[in-house]
Amino acid sequence: MSAIEVSSADASSTHRLAAALAKECRRGDCVLLRGDLGAGKTTFARGFIQALQSSPDEVVSPTFTLVQTYPARDGNTIWHFDLYRLKNADEVAEIGLDEALQDGITLIEWPELVQSQLPEDVLDVTIVMDGHPDRRRFTFTGSSRWQARLNTLKEKL
Ligand SMILES: Nc1ncnc2c1ncn2[C@@H]1O[C@H](COP(=O)(O)OP(=O)(O)OP(=O)(O)O)[C@@H](O)[C@H]1O
Ligand SMILES: [Mg+2]
Repeated sequence: MSAIEVSSADASSTHRLAAALAKECRRGDCVLLRGDLGAGKTTFARGFIQALQSSPDEVVSPTFTLVQTYPARDGNTIWHFDLYRLKNADEVAEIGLDEALQDGITLIEWPELVQSQLPEDVLDVTIVMDGHPDRRRFTFTGSSRWQARLNTLKEKL
């Protein structure tokens, strides 16, 4: 396992951090976003998607739709899930989780309910509030598959 910690001073700093990670991601990658309500998971996802998307579609929170997809400039599809309102783990088949994991770049808010259906090679991103109202601490944890990319991410920041 490989882990890095990064501090973010405000939402735009979180956007930059997410964009830097997005540029290291490729087809088949899955990023889990963990943290309390309002921690900044959707804010991070917005920065990530905006860095890759091929058209300037608004990035909305998939709170009620559970999933939103966005085409990326390189032909990939970015899948953004918010599973807070998922009723049971079987429902994810209907909203395309398997397809996302195989063919897309996947971001998942509230992944706990589907943990057993996820690959081992996910990147885990945990966001915690850090004193000042706008400050957040990000911990990125991934298998060895992520190590080189986490090192690159650290150098970029
Ligand atoms: N450093 C920061 N990083 C991210 N968001 C921040 C930061 N500072 C302030 N914010 C604000 O905190 C709020 C985070 O809301 P967001 O919807 O991203 O949270 P969430 O974790 O997705 O919540 P939910 O669990 O309800 O989906 C936004 O209003 C954002 O502007
Ligand atoms: Mg959210």
